[in-house]
Amino acid sequence: MNILVTGGTGYIGSHTCVALIAANHDVIIADNLSNSKIETVDRIERITGKRALFYKIDVTDAASVRSLFSSHSIDGVIHFAGLKAISESTRIPLEYYFNNVVSTIVVAGACLEYGVDRFVFSSSATVYGDNEVPFVETMELLSVTNPYGETKVMSEKILTDIAVTNSAWSVALLRYFNPIGAHESGLIGELPGGVPDNLMPYITQVAKGKLDKLRVFGGDYPTVDGTGVRDYIHVMDLAKGHIAALEKLPEGVHVFNLGTGQGTSVLELVQAFEKANNLKIPYEIVERRPGDIAKSYADTKKAGIELGWKAERSILDMCRDAWRFEKSY
Ligand code: NAD
Ligand code: UFG
Repeated sequence: MNILVTGGTGYIGSHTCVALIAANHDVIIADNLSNSKIETVDRIERITGKRALFYKIDVTDAASVRSLFSSHSIDGVIHFAGLKAISESTRIPLEYYFNNVVSTIVVAGACLEYGVDRFVFSSSATVYGDNEVPFVETMELLSVTNPYGETKVMSEKILTDIAVTNSAWSVALLRYFNPIGAHESGLIGELPGGVPDNLMPYITQVAKGKLDKLRVFGGDYPTVDGTGVRDYIHVMDLAKGHIAALEKLPEGVHVFNLGTGQGTSVLELVQAFEKANNLKIPYEIVERRPGDIAKSYADTKKAGIELGWKAERSILDMCRDAWRFEKSY
């Protein structure tokens, strides 16, 4: 298939482009490079031996997106492009609503106009808010606590409503848990601008000496050791989940959790990183971070049964690959 990947030079997008090319699909990337670098296109080529087409386009711009659809025969879209930092979304909500919701409307609109009926959307476990774990796809989404999460709930709703009136449409709403790690080549990985918000890039920057110590947000949660529990998933397993969704998706709207089903605390992740890489990560436990929840992990049965997909890599693999990328970049 000829797949349009919006946000394809970003963290998850670039790994998914590698997986798409490995599965013999042709890739067209549309990205405005607001949070990624053009050299990623070369790196994808170095890994796969095949060059993806790249367009520097803002996908909230309907004219540019329509022009792209009119000049290529597109079989499916994976829509990654968006802003993704929960805390930033509370400071600049309008930018989040505009970028994330308008981009979904514009890309979906072009799909309708040009007869593209396969749509895979990057949603997030944050839509579950503070529900009971494990999070199951059928849960009501009533407790979202930040504008970023709201943009994902809204985009899911928009895509669902479109599918109801267009019976040929196949839509996968993929709710990612916590992707970490990098491609095993060390050529692509996560490149946060400034001080990282997320745990794994923070740990790797402490390991490299760019930051002096990890601040663990909260040591009094009702968890195994008092620190927050998340479902970390290797980004290459996540990438493969997109291929399964694209290739196996029946008509209609389908929601899938993409996680491992295993919860890991902050301190357990630090210990795993130290063990995998034979390093010490200095840390201190500080106040809870506003907006954080105690536990998030997935019920993964549905993706296993309906997509035949399952995450395969371990926490140690994730830690090794994240460090390989940070070291060599
Ligand atoms: P990322 O920032 O690395 O990638 C997003 C890409 O989209 C970047 O390359 C950026 O330049 C591009 N982009 C942003 N707005 C654009 C626009 N208007 N037009 C064109 N390009 C635009 O982020 P990521 O971690 O790869 O996340 C990809 C998607 O997955 C996002 O939608 C994010 O919300 C979602 N998601 C991420 C996580 C996570 O922990 N990384 C978890 C759940 C969901
Ligand atoms: N944490 C720290 N110190 C840090 C950074 C994080 O202790 O410097 C802790 C957090 O408190 C939390 C855990 O590490 O307990 C994970 O935090 P992240 O910021 O890495 O991830 P979140 O679970 O907060 O959010 C991430 C993405 C969201 C996505 C969500 C899906 O940032 O975009 O996963 O589960 F929606």
